[in-house]
Amino acid sequence: MDLREAISSRRSIRSFSPQQVDRSVIDRILLDANKAPSAGNLQARDFIVVTAVEVKKKIAEAALNQAFIAEAPVVVVVCANKARSMSKYGRRGANLYSILDAALAAQNLMLSCINEGLGSCYVGAFNEGKVRKILGLPKTAVPVGIIPIGYPDENPIPTDRLPIEQIVHWEEW
Ligand SMILES: Cc1cc2nc3c(=O)[nH]c(=O)nc-3n(C[C@H](O)[C@H](O)[C@H](O)COP(=O)(O)O)c2cc1C
Repeated sequence: MDLREAISSRRSIRSFSPQQVDRSVIDRILLDANKAPSAGNLQARDFIVVTAVEVKKKIAEAALNQAFIAEAPVVVVVCANKARSMSKYGRRGANLYSILDAALAAQNLMLSCINEGLGSCYVGAFNEGKVRKILGLPKTAVPVGIIPIGYPDENPIPTDRLPIEQIVHWEEW
């Protein structure tokens, strides 16, 4: 698939068909996710792949009861690995680079989903403490996004964007 087509056709998908996602497909999108750039190539991110129904329900509850999360056959929780980036970059690594490493991987993951005919949605509204507990995260891992993934059962209209002139500043602000 053409990259521009993938970028343009991506929508947040919040309704999924019950069709399962093959393990080989999940493996491919995770490999694509980790091809994203990272500070010092430290890849300060970890992916928790959740397929167990009960765990998905708990995650949906922890995400302010966004029930569609539990409907997805696969939920990937993208975590920043503060320790991995801190080893080289200190506080900036822990507080900024690891978050960016995780966020960039999340975007790759969502675009790779499009290429596989899958839908996804970046979910950032969740109770971090609850998610930590459900998934047994170490202190050095920060959950930055919950990404439910599955075959789309909706075709949402494109969301608006601000006029590009409003947000692009040539040469200076
Ligand atoms: C940091 C972040 C947090 C988000 N949190 C949620 C969320 O908790 N629940 C949800 O349904 N969508 C969430 N979204 C998805 C946005 O609502 C969506 O990307 C935006 O409305 C644009 O729509 P589009 O993705 O279809 O282009 C989040 C997106 C980002 C980047």
